[in-house]
Amino acid sequence: MQSAAAVHDEQVLLKVDDLKKYFPIRRGFIKRTIGHVKAVDEVSFSVRAGETLGVVGESGCGKTTTARLIMQAFPVTGGTIQLRRNSGNLEDITGLNSRELYFLRREIQMVFQDPYASLNPRMTVRDLLTEPLVIHRIGTSQERERRAREMLDLVGLQQEYLNRYPHAFSGGQRQRLGIARAIIMNPKLVVCDEPVSALDVSVQAQILNLLEDLQTELGLTYIFIAHDLSVVRHVCDRVAVMYVGKLVEFAEVELLFSKPKHPYTEALLSAVPVSNPSLRKERIMLGGEVADPANPPSGCYFHPRCTYKKAICETEEPEFTLVSEDTTSMVRCHRAAELSLKGVPSVRDMPQP
Ligand SMILES: Nc1ncnc2c1ncn2[C@@H]1O[C@H](COP(=O)(O)OP(=O)(O)OP(=O)(O)O)[C@@H](O)[C@H]1O
Ligand SMILES: [Mg+2]
Repeated sequence: MQSAAAVHDEQVLLKVDDLKKYFPIRRGFIKRTIGHVKAVDEVSFSVRAGETLGVVGESGCGKTTTARLIMQAFPVTGGTIQLRRNSGNLEDITGLNSRELYFLRREIQMVFQDPYASLNPRMTVRDLLTEPLVIHRIGTSQERERRAREMLDLVGLQQEYLNRYPHAFSGGQRQRLGIARAIIMNPKLVVCDEPVSALDVSVQAQILNLLEDLQTELGLTYIFIAHDLSVVRHVCDRVAVMYVGKLVEFAEVELLFSKPKHPYTEALLSAVPVSNPSLRKERIMLGGEVADPANPPSGCYFHPRCTYKKAICETEEPEFTLVSEDTTSMVRCHRAAELSLKGVPSVRDMPQP
């Protein structure tokens, strides 16, 4: 019989350890490096096969950079990214050569925020959908066309649309095309970077439902980057909260929403609208600016904005550690064990009218 740890490890599709991406800041005539933007720093988490992992945090906290590192769109500054490859083993995908990256693209795909910008306006739907298959020399042209038609069916678009150009579609339809293009190669992992943020609220729900249906049907694993925490609660299994390039909390979604452990998570949750007025809560107004990742504060990066800070928070950076022995939740806060922070009640806990 396998140990619990081994079984748990087998469920892991992607494992990120101590991930770092520092962008150089260059000045002057000879472009001397005068510092670094630590866009992603000491980030470690894992994604289980078949789950949806949410990544949240304010603008500029490093969500897209994390996504692009996982895609290997640019090299890491440090750390490892392991993906369970076809061999069944977790393999480090950092530092792959161009030929190896070519094969990696079949396994990890991305859906972007802006369906307008991510689809080439001069290509027909047929060309847009079959392009990845052409690049990877998969199938004959008839087989590729059949696959493109299948994809249109799958994402709820009519097959007659094959000859149209992207401008003839609405925002929601374009995002359906973006999703079809991402899944046509049968990837294991789809990284969705704010996939519904640019869409009308009514259309957002349709696209979220489509992503959910595709996950069930095709067994996909998602990394879901979002600003909107209500959406995250709806679609994610676990959530990673980022602040200035670092992970500050990582937990199962219901636990994170009902019992946040980091003051920053509590502040983010306080801005989530609640439909029941009897449960309305005080909104925590975060004072001050988001810290600059090129020049972060001493100690805990969040301390200048934190209402719970103590002297140690200003001088010593907290470790990212387990909240307690009996959970898998991780937090980066000196006071996590003693604070009792406010969450958002679950829909199930709300009094019935
Ligand atoms: N190519 C780059 N060169 C220099 N700095 C960069 C580059 N890409 C991102 N950054 C910086 O890295 C930090 C993280 O950016 P990133 O785009 O990952 O944030 P984000 O969380 O996706 O934000 P948003 O919610 O606005 O999309 C920011 O300070 C950004 O200015
Ligand atoms: Mg982004």
